[in-house]
Amino acid sequence: MRIEDPKVLAALAELGIEHRRGASLSELTSLGIGGTTDLLRITKHESIPDLLKLLDENGIAHKFLGGGSNLLVVDGELPWVVLQLAAPEPDVILEGNLARVDAGADLGSTVTYCAKHDLGGMEGLIGVPGTVGGALRMNAGAYGMQIGTYVREVKLYRAATRKIEVLRGNQISFEYRHTSFAPDDMMLAVTLELPSKPYKEILQGIRICNEKRRSSQPLGQKSAGCIFKNPPGASAGRMIDELGLKGLHVGDARVSDRHANFFVNNGHASARDMLALIGEVRERVNKAYRVALENEVVVWTA
Ligand code: EPU
Repeated sequence: MRIEDPKVLAALAELGIEHRRGASLSELTSLGIGGTTDLLRITKHESIPDLLKLLDENGIAHKFLGGGSNLLVVDGELPWVVLQLAAPEPDVILEGNLARVDAGADLGSTVTYCAKHDLGGMEGLIGVPGTVGGALRMNAGAYGMQIGTYVREVKLYRAATRKIEVLRGNQISFEYRHTSFAPDDMMLAVTLELPSKPYKEILQGIRICNEKRRSSQPLGQKSAGCIFKNPPGASAGRMIDELGLKGLHVGDARVSDRHANFFVNNGHASARDMLALIGEVRERVNKAYRVALENEVVVWTA
């Protein structure tokens, strides 16, 4: 969707919104798939209520983009614009055991920065691509930990009240790859309370997680991480592997040879290819195991 109306363009400029015309979602997502639309980059949280009002009044649909690392976007000209936070400098402020982090901050850099200041707990998240806001919304986790455990407070734009609000950690429920945030709530900043640990010790944990990840996941390839959630008590990756589906492909969309729950874009995969592959694998797992796999990857359809 293109914003052409000069009045809307002037209002965006007044709100300090950076407007990029015809951005390609294939360049903004780790899968390297997705069509084109206008991208609006937000530099001041306070402008969000007015921005959303402006879009609403002008019938411009929108979606919020985090780091684009857990996302499959359809092809072609997209019927909505995309909003993204531009992280301020600095994007992490430490005070004792508290880390106040902008939602647009890079997750890996945040883990490392906190570690250097002797704050641990998040070692497992090293190597998970994306922003802190995206990790928070999905309650990202790995190697026995999840980000929700450390959340003290969240600043967000709440779609229900159309206001910026602050929620305490105990007002939010964090479950396996799921939180109680509404789909159109926009994460703005989070305060994490992290346990003190010497840097050297944290670094050791980070190295171990990095090593495990390198040996089991296709890190250098275009992917969105795990495609399916693990069903209770089972592993989607193991089931897909047991069915011999590694290497199965539709066009350039392919089940990774390294980890069967990672589907990689081997060149020029389209969303249609990737969705067909997801459907095919889901069907085969369902037939063999009577288990309906749920998407872990977020899909933006038109
Ligand atoms: N396995 C296979 N074949 C495969 C892949 C896995 O047999 O192709 C087996 C492994 O040998 C292991 C078991 O399945 O015995 C579990 O595999 P793994 O340890 O790789 O963990 P996972 O359950 O597949 C989860 C998360 C990952 C996270 C890892 C490490 C989900 C859907 N996935 O994967 O998160 O990195 O644990 O903690 O919860 C993601 O969220 O995108 C993601 C990749």
